[in-house]
This record gives sequence, structure tokens and C-alpha cells, in this order.
Amino acid sequence: MAKLSVNVDHIATIRQARGVSEPDPVAAAVLAELAGADGITIHLREDRRHIQDRDVTILRQTIKTRMNLEMALTDEMVDIALKTIPDIVTLVPEGRHELTTEGGLDVILLQNTLKQKVALLQQAGIIVSLFIEPNIAQIKASHKVGADAIEIHTGMYCDARIAGAQREQLGRIELAISAARKLGLRINAGHGLDYRNIGPVLALPGIEEFNIGHSIVSRASLVGMERAVREMLELVKG
Ligand code: PXP
Repeated sequence: MAKLSVNVDHIATIRQARGVSEPDPVAAAVLAELAGADGITIHLREDRRHIQDRDVTILRQTIKTRMNLEMALTDEMVDIALKTIPDIVTLVPEGRHELTTEGGLDVILLQNTLKQKVALLQQAGIIVSLFIEPNIAQIKASHKVGADAIEIHTGMYCDARIAGAQREQLGRIELAISAARKLGLRINAGHGLDYRNIGPVLALPGIEEFNIGHSIVSRASLVGMERAVREMLELVKG
């Protein structure tokens, strides 16, 4: 059965809009876990636009399930991860002007640095996942640099508006799952998934964990965190 890790970044986005102390992503994480989430995901961005260093420290102490820290491949972030020891680090590309993570990590281009940083994080007991496009060459490179897992970027599937384009993107995801499975990589998926578009992705066997944020926090703003998480869990767990 697939797992759901709830990304609480956008609770912090609301807090940062006012520069005050609420709403607190720590409280959101507690509620998500009480509703049954299998993990909590946060992205500490270099510009600290939502999650703050204080959140990382406190969440490390309060998360009862699994902490997935999304971060850029920089020395600063690797140092923070080595001090925090999240259960999982997901390495993502990061651009200062993007609204959200755009595109996957170019593992082929970054392979030398990645090999070194992946090993460093793994030596500290951290599971390392790479956020990549559903692309076979990137999957092979992820295996080559020693990653434990990949997170398949579902953004292009979620952005596809017509049935043919959706089918094409689902086909890419299916091929990516099959290639990653053959190489023994664990498979996560996320980005842009919501209550309406997740069905066809759930129908593809092999995805271990979904990382979902925006749609859950959006629904939570209207119906409450626990209900929003439970309703997504009902879909993910079938
Ligand atoms: N996975 C990764 C690597 C991400 O960067 C994000 C966005 O922070 C997500 C999953 C969640 O995406 P969304 O907020 O669209 O559900």
C-alpha cells in the first residue's frame, strides 16, 4: 500500500506572509500525523521563503512518523541535514525566481558532486532520494550516483490538460517506474498531485510514497487539516 507524506510548506507560506508566528507548520504536522499521514515533508529553501531553520529543528523533535527534508544540493543544506538527521533527504533543483520547484534535478550533469554528497548523507544514516523527471537516462544516473530512491516529478502529468497529453505523461511515468524497479531504486512521486488527478497515478503499481502539499493545504484552509489529510489518505490507501 502506498504511503502519504504531507508537505506543510504552505502553512509556513501563510505565516511568512505576515511575518508572525502562526499558523505553525509544527502544529500542522501534528494534525497531519493524527489524521494518519505516514510522513511529513518540508522544503528548506535557500531564500527561506516558507520553512525556517527553527521549523526544521523543532520538527525533527516532534515528528513521530518520518521526516523528509527537501533541499538544494549546496554545502549549506548538506551541513544542515547532517546536523538535523532527517529520515530522508530529497535533493531538488532550486531557482530563486521560481514559484515552486520547476523541473527535476539534472543528475547526469551533477553526477560528480552528487556521488560525494549522497555518500556523505548516507554515512549519517539518511535515506537519499533524487527528485527527477521521468527520464530513463536520469534514472540510470541516479542509480550510478548511489541514490536509495527517486522521486518522480509528476508536474508535467498534472499540467497536461487534454486526455492525449495526460496519457503520454502517464506513459513516461510508467516507463520510469519500470526502469527504477529494475535498478532496485525505491520510487516516490509528487508535485501538482491533487484529489482529482491522483487516480491514474495510483493505478500504476510500484510507487512507494507520495509527497503532496499544495492541494492538501488548500483544502485544509477550508475544511481543516485532519479532514484534508484523511480525504487524501482514503484515495492513496484505496
Ligand atoms: N515533491 C517535491 C520534490 C517538491 O518540491 C514539492 C513542492 O514543494 C512537492 C513534492 C509537493 O508538490 P505540491 O505542493 O504541488 O503537492
